[in-house]
Amino acid sequence: MGLSIIILAAGQGTRMRSALPKVLQSLAGKPLLAHVLASSEALAADDICVVYGHGGEAVQAALPSPGIRWALQAERLGTGHAVQQAMPNTPDANRVLILAGDVPLLTAETLRKLLEDTPHGEMAVLTVDMQDPTGYGRIVRKGGSVQAIVEQKDANEEQLAIHEINTGVILCPGDKLKHWLSGLSNDNSQGEYYLTDVIAMAVADNVNVHGIKAGSSQEVMGINDKKQLAEAERALQARRVNALMQEGVGFADPARVDIRGTLKCGTDVFIDINAVFEGDVVLGDGTIIESNNLIRDSKLGARSLIHSNCHIEGASTGTACEIGPFARLRPGATLADNVKIGNFVEIKKSTIADGSKVNHLTYIGDAEIGSGVNVGAGTITCNYDGVNKHKTRIGDRVFIGSNVNLVAPVSVGSGATIGAGSTISRNAPADELTVARSKQTTLPGWKRPVKKDKK
Ligand code: UD1
Ligand code: CA
Repeated sequence: MGLSIIILAAGQGTRMRSALPKVLQSLAGKPLLAHVLASSEALAADDICVVYGHGGEAVQAALPSPGIRWALQAERLGTGHAVQQAMPNTPDANRVLILAGDVPLLTAETLRKLLEDTPHGEMAVLTVDMQDPTGYGRIVRKGGSVQAIVEQKDANEEQLAIHEINTGVILCPGDKLKHWLSGLSNDNSQGEYYLTDVIAMAVADNVNVHGIKAGSSQEVMGINDKKQLAEAERALQARRVNALMQEGVGFADPARVDIRGTLKCGTDVFIDINAVFEGDVVLGDGTIIESNNLIRDSKLGARSLIHSNCHIEGASTGTACEIGPFARLRPGATLADNVKIGNFVEIKKSTIADGSKVNHLTYIGDAEIGSGVNVGAGTITCNYDGVNKHKTRIGDRVFIGSNVNLVAPVSVGSGATIGAGSTISRNAPADELTVARSKQTTLPGWKRPVKKDKK
């Protein structure tokens, strides 16, 4: 028997007070719905269908996943009506797992347990005990199995006292679900077609309904406003940091780090406060990340030392490089081993070989720098002529004095020395000193101007 997953995402999310549809609000750098899709995809379902409505085109454009089927719910007539929109293309023989697009912390592990613990042909509801169950559908049990779900607005006093609530996650045989959905009515306090009414229908048809409890109420929290979004963000970050600490990664403060993608770490990595990791980041063994760093889509080799306040994106480094403080590595910055990049240095689309140093106030763009090179303070590769970008090539063991302009395309031969303050616009030969600046002159007897008396 196969599995179909239906994700309900047609809600407007008015409480977000945002132009962005609710399911596109960002959690750890990804839309809410992308988190639900990731858990869904981990279950190896035959079929994943997203029911969309409000902001539909934007939702589809933001999640261009070829494996997803989209079903439009043109009018928002309730959760039962929403599921119905996905049913025509859902195989009768499949089990159907219904999820909500705004419950992003639910793990594939919990869903797997729900699937395993529910015998085929039977039904299950994922529930949780809530200290304050206000607003949720209440789980009415008899002799252990679930008899019905009663919405807050339709519940009597006795039902309102129940703390076990419906998380919105429901598992049901496809053929039966189709049949029950066609029998729903909207005769209730909200005038909606409630998906939850199928539970009582199942019971009437002698189908067992299991109430399976989720691990924590946090895992099943629905996101309706910015406060809940921020709570979910912290919860998800804590989950990620805890997993890394279990693998041996050290954090100065587990609450002051953000991982908005994947972070893979070797052994003995230490991360100080306010580090933000985006996209796919790899940190080699023994790497130290000092405070206030943003690292995006980069791979740092073993024993990297990243001083405070760096911005590193699309870069890769070999072993034992030292970066910052206040350095910027832009996409295509490729450093070999033992390279030092110091303060107020920007490196873009350039390779720098072993042991070279660019320590102060420098821009290196579209360059190839050899090994053992020293680039003096204030050096600029003038890589852009206003229209095209050009390359600068610097050989091994070159010494570039301070405040040098390298007007690309240009190359400096191995072992060359460039005098401070030079503007180099033609190739400089290997092993020689090249200087390009006007001679120093002194004007004997010259006096500074003096202030004239006002009359
Ligand atoms: C629903 C459940 C309630 C449960 C709660 C958990 C019903 C009738 N009630 O209540 O038992 O405790 O979720 O959060 O199912 N949606 C659509 N189209 C619609 C209506 C809703 O796609 O016409 C989507 C929403 O975008 C959302 C999900 O379904 O992702 C749940 O809808 P919502 O309005 O939040 O349901 P609740 O009233 O909170
Ligand atoms: Ca809700």
